[in-house]
Amino acid sequence: MNKKIGAKILGTGSYFPNKVLTNADLEKIVETSDEWISTRTGIKERRIAANGEYTSDLAYKASLEAIKAANIKLEEIDLVLVATITPDMFFPSTACFLQKKLGLNSVPAFDLSAACSGFVYGVATAKAFIEAGLYKNILLVGAEELSKITDWTDRNTCILFGDGAGAMILSASQQNNDILSVFLGADGSYANLLFIPGGGSINPATAKTVDEKLHSMKMQGKEVFKAAIPKMVFAAQKALELSGRKLEDIKLFIPHQANMRIIEAVAKKMNIPMERVFVNIHKTGNISSATTITALDEAIKTGRLNKGDLVELVAFGGGFTWGATVVKV
Ligand code: ACO
Repeated sequence: MNKKIGAKILGTGSYFPNKVLTNADLEKIVETSDEWISTRTGIKERRIAANGEYTSDLAYKASLEAIKAANIKLEEIDLVLVATITPDMFFPSTACFLQKKLGLNSVPAFDLSAACSGFVYGVATAKAFIEAGLYKNILLVGAEELSKITDWTDRNTCILFGDGAGAMILSASQQNNDILSVFLGADGSYANLLFIPGGGSINPATAKTVDEKLHSMKMQGKEVFKAAIPKMVFAAQKALELSGRKLEDIKLFIPHQANMRIIEAVAKKMNIPMERVFVNIHKTGNISSATTITALDEAIKTGRLNKGDLVELVAFGGGFTWGATVVKV
C-alpha cells in the first residue's frame, strides 16, 4: 500500500525593501512620539517600498531566496500561491505577476486573501493540495506593501504597518510530513473593525471615495486588540492539540507581529516564557500576511531554529480571521 503523501518544507526566504522609516521619522509626519509608539506597540522602525517597487517585486526576491534554499529547479514549481491584501492590482492576481517575473509561464497561480492570517491560511491550502496529490512543489508567498493602503495623516494606524515579503517551498514527500497540524477560523461579523471601505463593489472608486479617504485602512484598534488575544490563544491551543504534541515540544512560537503587548499577553495566557517566543516587530512593524513567514525565515537564518525543530505559527487579522499551524523545519 502507498504511504500517505505529506508536505515537506524545503526552504524559506524573505525580502525587505531598503528604506527604513523610524519612529523619529514619523514624529515629523504626524503628532506622535517614539516613546508612545515604543511603549504602546513595541515598534521602532519599519521598511517601506520604493516608488516603482511593487508587492510582486518583494514577492519575487523572497521567492528567489526560498527556491535557492530549497535547492530545486525553478521549473519544478507547479503552483504559485500568494497571500496578500495589498496586491499589485485587483486583478490579475499578484501570483500571476510573480509567476511571470519568475518565468514560470503556464503553471497555475492565484492569490489568497485572509489579511494577517494569510500565510497560515496559505500553509493549510498548500498542505491540502499536496496531500490530495494535485501539486508536487508549491511556492507559497506572503507579501505586502501596507504603506500603500495607509493613511499617512492618521496617527492611529500609520505608525503600525510596514512592507516586506516571505516565501516557502512546500514539496510532496512520502517520507516526511512537516505540517503537523493547521487550525483556521473566521468571523465576518467583525468586518467593519478593520477594513478598507472603498474600491470594491460596496463603494466603487469615485472622486468622493478618494476625498473621504475610503481607500486606506480603517481600524478600531482597541476592539481589534481585545479580540486578537483570546483568538490567538484559542487557535494556538487547537493547532497544538491537533498536532498531538505538547507545549514543551515546541522550540519556538512565532505569533503575528501586530503589537508587542498582544504578543506578551498571548504568551502569558499560554504559559510560554518569552525566550521561546520570536519577536521582530521592533524592526518590521506589522506586515500582515508576510509577518509569520519572514519571522520564520529569520529564526532559521539566525540559528534560533535548527533542522527538525518544531515551531508554531499563530496569526490574527482583518475579517476577523485567525489560524495556527505546527510545523517541523
Ligand atoms: N501617537 C500618540 N498618541 C496616539 C497615537 C499615536 N500614534 N495614536 C493614538 N494616540 C492617542 C489616542 O488619540 C488616544 O488619546 P486620547 O486618550 O486623548 O483619546 C490615546 O493615544 C490612546 O489611544 P488608544 O487607541 O486607546 O491606544 P491603545 O492603547 O489602544 O493602542 C493600538 C492603539 C496600538 C492601535 C492598539 O489598539 C493595537 O495594537 N490594536 C491592535 C492592532 C492589530 O492587532 N491589528 C491586527 C491586525 S492588522 C491586519 O489584519 C491588517
